[in-house]
Amino acid sequence: MKKVHIKSYGCQMNVYDSQRMGDLLAPLGYEAAGEPEDADLIILNTCHIREKAAEKVYSELGKLRRLKEERRGNDRAPVIAVAGCVAQAEGEEIVRRQKAVDLVFGPQTYHRLPQLLKAHAISGKPVVETEFPAEDKFEHLAKAMPKRGVTAFLTVQEGCDKFCTFCVVPYTRGSEFSRPVAQIEAEARALVEAGVREVTLLGQNVNAYHGAGPDGENWPLARLITHLSRIDGMERLRFTTSHPRDMSDDLIAAHAETSKLMPYLHLPIQAGSDRILKDMNRGHSAEDYLKLIARIRKARPDIALSGDFIVGFPGESEADFEATLAIVRAARYASAFSFKYSPRPGTPAAEMAAQVPDEVKSDRLARLQALLGTQQQAFNQACLGREMPILLEKPGRHPGQMVGRSPYLQSVYIDAGTHGIGDMVNVTIDAVGSNSLSAHIQA
Ligand code: 5AD
Ligand code: SF4
Repeated sequence: MKKVHIKSYGCQMNVYDSQRMGDLLAPLGYEAAGEPEDADLIILNTCHIREKAAEKVYSELGKLRRLKEERRGNDRAPVIAVAGCVAQAEGEEIVRRQKAVDLVFGPQTYHRLPQLLKAHAISGKPVVETEFPAEDKFEHLAKAMPKRGVTAFLTVQEGCDKFCTFCVVPYTRGSEFSRPVAQIEAEARALVEAGVREVTLLGQNVNAYHGAGPDGENWPLARLITHLSRIDGMERLRFTTSHPRDMSDDLIAAHAETSKLMPYLHLPIQAGSDRILKDMNRGHSAEDYLKLIARIRKARPDIALSGDFIVGFPGESEADFEATLAIVRAARYASAFSFKYSPRPGTPAAEMAAQVPDEVKSDRLARLQALLGTQQQAFNQACLGREMPILLEKPGRHPGQMVGRSPYLQSVYIDAGTHGIGDMVNVTIDAVGSNSLSAHIQA
């Protein structure tokens, strides 16, 4: 048996891609290695979204080079591969900068991994493959679905045509593409067969989904969700990430009508100032966003709202930043991610004058995160004493304890008694910690 170690950075789509790479390698005799030291093949599935994410890759590669040199003597030098969005963006530059790298391939070419490994074994030279192929990579992924956990990701849409001025995604993942319904359904059924109970449908712009349906029409996401919710054994569905401009009425209605669709919505606004939103090319105002979430809450009053924020976008004044704090106060988030603006080569915002100094960004990020932290705590506190179904995912810290997910994506610790992984149990929430809840099973 050969061993592969895959390390995933960045978004959930990368987690999905890493899993699929593992599936592709299994028929070639590779099993998973917990540590890079034990592996014959090491893959870094990288993220290019912010500068820090890309830098991490080069520092990790420095460590892997030393590992490779140490093991060269005993003939077990590992093959080192860089996959994902840094690979897509930097291509040949990676093998120039780090000689230990053997393979470089982007998010649209990883289905060719077996051929790339072969080409490298024959030539002994680095192989770089970052073209966007015309074929559908999903058609070429491994059909066999090894055993999965209770929850899984399923990519249904990739790429983005929105061109927010700060973002590399349209360049690394390419233009928007939706997988056909039948292909997604087959994968969802295979996941359920492999033990999965909760599926999160993924896309950079997932609510723009418009895949070909079996009836020849393009299906919107709401219709796909209703369709998948009818699969026996599929207990819960989620989707992420959504753009406010594509939040259609039928998708809002699905949150009221489809009981298997969980009450959680990741709907980034990025900033609260209309001037900044315009410079970001978001295509919506702060007021549009507030009106939209009012409609969503009307359909599903208990929805857990989540979002992403960028502080220190070029030209952001103190007043602009305060508009971000104001939108957060008005929208009330259950959880959120927030970042300092990071200029990305080739994106329009990187060229804008009036870049904001790092100290200002750090100060604003701390203030925003303090507010978001208070909101998260308030959302969790409001769950105290409430009853809700929990899907058990894995063992907890103590004997007999298990961890599951609430409908709102919170981690919940429970004394599970005779219940096991994959069970859905009704609980009452007893206590609220900083990052998790605890509960007891209802008699
Ligand atoms: N700098 C900082 N944050 C960014 N994001 C995307 N591009 C950048 C950038 N250049 C954030 C956005 C997006 C999330 C995935 O990452 O908030 O929603
Ligand atoms: Fe990072 Fe974006 Fe690539 Fe995901 S798609 S890995 S967030 S750059």
